[in-house]
Amino acid sequence: MAQLVEGISRTFNEFLLLPNRTSLECTPAAVDLRAPLVRHVAGEASAIELRTPFTSAIMQAVSSPELAIALAREGGLGFLHHNRSVEDQVADVRAVKNFKAGFVVSDTNVRPTDTLGHLWELMERTGHTTAAVTDDGTASGRLLGLVTSRDFHPQRHDAAALVSTRMVPVEKVAHSSDDIGLSEANARLWEERLDCLPTVDESGRLRHLVFRSDYTDNKRFPTQLVDDGKRLRVGAGVNTHDYRDRIPALVEAGVDVLAFDSSDGFSDWQAEALTWAKKHYPEVPVGGGNVVDGEAFTFLADAGADFIKVGVGGGSICITRDQKGIGRGQASAVLDVAAARDAYRDNTGQYVPICSDGGLLHDYHVTLALAMGADFVMMGRYFARFDQAPGAKVPTRDGFVKEYWGEGSSRARNWQRYGQGGRGLLFEEGVDGYVPYAGDLHEGLATTIAKIKATMVSCGAMDLATFKATARLTLVSEQSFQESHATVTVRETAGLD
Ligand code: IMP
Repeated sequence: MAQLVEGISRTFNEFLLLPNRTSLECTPAAVDLRAPLVRHVAGEASAIELRTPFTSAIMQAVSSPELAIALAREGGLGFLHHNRSVEDQVADVRAVKNFKAGFVVSDTNVRPTDTLGHLWELMERTGHTTAAVTDDGTASGRLLGLVTSRDFHPQRHDAAALVSTRMVPVEKVAHSSDDIGLSEANARLWEERLDCLPTVDESGRLRHLVFRSDYTDNKRFPTQLVDDGKRLRVGAGVNTHDYRDRIPALVEAGVDVLAFDSSDGFSDWQAEALTWAKKHYPEVPVGGGNVVDGEAFTFLADAGADFIKVGVGGGSICITRDQKGIGRGQASAVLDVAAARDAYRDNTGQYVPICSDGGLLHDYHVTLALAMGADFVMMGRYFARFDQAPGAKVPTRDGFVKEYWGEGSSRARNWQRYGQGGRGLLFEEGVDGYVPYAGDLHEGLATTIAKIKATMVSCGAMDLATFKATARLTLVSEQSFQESHATVTVRETAGLD
C-alpha cells in the first residue's frame, strides 16, 4: 500500500504570526527586504541579491518586458516566459536589457512622404503627440525631423499633404548622441526650452526620445535591481525540451538568470538539463522546480540548481489537484523544503535559496511564506492585475478587470511545462479568466511592501534572515479564522463629508 506522509497538507490561511518584542530602532523605515537569489557559500552574500523579494511568474499573462522592467525597477525580478519561439523570447530579454530610464523608443514614426492624414491617425492610435520622421518610418531609421501636434491640425491642413511640408527638419531639431546621461539631457531640455530631445547613433539613426516629464522618474526607484553595467536585470524561463538551443541564445542576449519551468521538477529530465546548463554555462545562475518536499529539493540541489521553486497545485489559476490529484498545501510545502534547505546548508556549506511559487492570495500570505522560510516569492495573479501586465484591460459594470490565464489552459497550451506524454495538451491544468484591475505596479507594490514591513516590525525583525529565524507561527481554528475578518457591517463612506 502507499506510504502515508506524516502531517496534514496545510495552506497559508491556516496560520497567523504571533507578535514578538519590538525594539525602539525597529521601524518600517529600518526594515531591509534584501533577499538572496542564487546559491552561495553559507554565511557569505549571494552573487545576486534581490532588493525586494518578488519575482514574476513565468507566464504569458504576466511576464512581458514592460512588467519585467517595472518589477526590476522595484528591486525584484521578472522571468520572461518560454512558451514561444527562441527569437521572441530573446527579443524580450534585449528589450529589458536595453531599457534606459527616461529614454523611450519612439512608437509614433512616419516617413516624410507619408500624408498628414496618416500621421493624425497614428497619433490618435498611440495617444502621443510627438512623431519622429525617419527615412524608413521606423523607430531606428535615419532621423530626418520631428513633427508634433503643434505643427499641423486636421481642420487647417490638407490630409493629403505630405509630412515633409509640416515637419521641422533635422538640421533645426536639437538632438544628441545616445551616450548622453539623463541629467545632462534634462539640462538641455530646460536650457534650450525643448519638449523633446531625440538621440541618434554615429550614422544619424534614431535611438531614443527624451521628454522633460520623464526626468523625475528615476528618482522614484531607489531600489532598482541592476547588473554591473547598470542595466536592469532580467530572468527567463526555460524548459527541458529545447534548452540546448534556447539557453545559448538567451545567454548571448544578456539574460541574468534562468529557471527551468516545470509543474513537476522532481524528474531525471530536469536533473539532466540542470547538469547540462551548469556544465556549459557555469557562470549563469539557473533555478529548478517545482517541488513540494525536502527529498525533491535535495535531488535538484545535487543536480546543480542555484535556487529551487516550491509549489504544485496552489496557483490561483491551477486545476492540477482537481485533474490529477497531485500537489501539496503551499504552507506545508514551504515549511518542509525550507527545513531541507537548512539541512543542505549544514551538510554542504552551500545555501540554495527557495522561492514560494503560487497561491499567494493576500499580501499577508507573502509575509507568511517569507516567515516560513521562503527566500523570495513568485506571483502570477498578483502581477497580472497591473497596467504593465500583458492581459487586456476589460471594462465591467463595477470597474475594470484584466485577463489572466494559466500556462496549462488551452489558451496558453504550454505542453513543455506539463508533461502529459507528447506535444500538446491532452487535458487542461489551468483556467482562463479575469482578475480585478489594480492600476500601476509601482503603487500596488508599495502597499504590499508597507504591509510586509509593518508585520516584520511587529515581529521584531529588521531583515528577512532574522524574520525567518525568529518568527513564531500559530495554527488557526475555523472559529479564529472567522475572527480574522471585520464583524461590523462596513459603512458606505461614499458621499459622506
Ligand atoms: P498565482 O500567483 O497563484 O497566480 O500562481 C502562479 C503560479 O501558478 C505560476 O508561477 C506557476 O507555478 C503556476 N501555474 C501557472 N499556470 C498554471 C496552470 O495553468 N495550472 C497550474 N499552475 C499554473
